[in-house]
Amino acid sequence: MKKIYALALCLSMTTVMAMDIDERKILSLNEMQRNHILAEMRALLQGTQQILHALSKEDMMAVARHARILGKEMTHKGEDHLRSVLPENFMQLGMSVHQSFDQIATDAETLKNPKHTLIQLSDTMQHCITCHAAYQIRTTELPAKAESHPAHHNHH
Ligand code: HEC
Repeated sequence: MKKIYALALCLSMTTVMAMDIDERKILSLNEMQRNHILAEMRALLQGTQQILHALSKEDMMAVARHARILGKEMTHKGEDHLRSVLPENFMQLGMSVHQSFDQIATDAETLKNPKHTLIQLSDTMQHCITCHAAYQIRTTELPAKAESHPAHHNHH
């Protein structure tokens, strides 16, 4: 009994200590850049749910459709202004997620194997976890580097 209590206390203490300071690398962004990234994040979460829903019905065409939206196409929506402020490693992690969703879409169309897609989705979400464990966003009132080129312009 005592042992279990000590273990529980120990666990809760490390949790508190871990929560005390956010030691993840800081991405120093302005409001607009933060909003852009978080909006993309919410789209990733929503798209993942839509893929799972389609998968539960074994509707592989719908899986492909939802996965494709989260593919590399997603990054073409005016992200040039972010490229100059985000670390290379962050960009690569993000790109690998988009590539994975393209692969999920292609395999759903051709293999039509729900179990295979489920494994791919699980593997892809490891990248979500890796990035979230490594980075946090802080906003700054100071003009960010990217503001020297008008970032709200559409780069098409
Ligand atoms: C390349 C890095 C990276 C990848 C990959 C990534 N994220 Fe994020 N995500 C972030 C960062 C940074 C934040 C902000 C975290 C913070 O400041 O605490 C965030 C925040 C979020 C949020 C909160 C959005 C909000 O409005 O507050 C959601 C939801 C989210 N991510 C979902 C996902 C999902 C789902 C995936 C994978 C399919 C994913 N993310 C992959 C970096 C990433």
